[in-house]
Amino acid sequence: MGYNRRLNKLAVSLASTMSRAPKILIFDSGLGGLTVCGEVARLLPDARLIYAADDAAFPYGGLPEDVLIARVLSVMHRLIALCDPDAVVIACNTASTLALPHLRAQFPKIPFIGTVPAIKPAASQSRSGLISVLATPGTVARDYTRDLVRTYAAHCVVTLAGSGELAPLAEAFMQGKIVPDAAIAREIAPAFVTAGQLRTDCIVLACTHYPLLLGHFERLAPWPVEWVDPAPAIARQTSHVLREQLGFPATNPPSAAPNYAVFTGTLSPGPELLYALRLRGLEKAVMEPMPLAEYSGT
Ligand code: DGL
Repeated sequence: MGYNRRLNKLAVSLASTMSRAPKILIFDSGLGGLTVCGEVARLLPDARLIYAADDAAFPYGGLPEDVLIARVLSVMHRLIALCDPDAVVIACNTASTLALPHLRAQFPKIPFIGTVPAIKPAASQSRSGLISVLATPGTVARDYTRDLVRTYAAHCVVTLAGSGELAPLAEAFMQGKIVPDAAIAREIAPAFVTAGQLRTDCIVLACTHYPLLLGHFERLAPWPVEWVDPAPAIARQTSHVLREQLGFPATNPPSAAPNYAVFTGTLSPGPELLYALRLRGLEKAVMEPMPLAEYSGT
């Protein structure tokens, strides 16, 4: 292609980027990514948001690593074909700590913004030097997480507290069910550690589901701590990618199409969940069933 044609093509693609709202796909195994979606919506009110919950494969926390990678890739193929996003936010620590390099290799033209345990800010914020990472069993077992601890928190005593129960409890809470205090208290207890006069003062919420239960955590904590939620930082990073990497201006014409949620399972959301989605600006729920057996490539 000649120089002038290339220049012309670039100008046309830039002009189309500038004159429309950016479209962002926000992905999680379930409802946890709504905590990130809320922050992205707040920071980028002009963006068009599509929230995707892979509830057919929930929870990700206990899936073997090869199954999880295959699952995330095959579901992402379908979601990208459906939504054609400008950028994708993987609003899930369990998936990000494993599948991000695979996603970036398979979809090189789309920027992926990941969610990884906020160990660095917790380690610099802690005064006692005792920090905990509350996460799914998958995330606490990852090399990625252990590398973050070595790199950013070598001066701290870090407790990795894995819970297989908290994400399902958060899902139940969002669906309007009663979640027993005793079950939550039991799951957060291992994150509270003492050493002589010192005690844990920062707990990383390293699963996007957990901020949904923050009110419970604060009420049931044996002592007050700083709960570190990475959602605002992820929203800032998303904004940075849109502006700096993709060239969207600081304000765009608002999207005319509504924000919505996609579910890969077969159970339609009940009224409580629909209300919670609407509170976050997601005006409708669309069912796109992708059974685990069919869409995990295993
Ligand atoms: N929300 C997900 C995370 O951030 C995981 C929940 C799950 O599917 O186990 O890790």
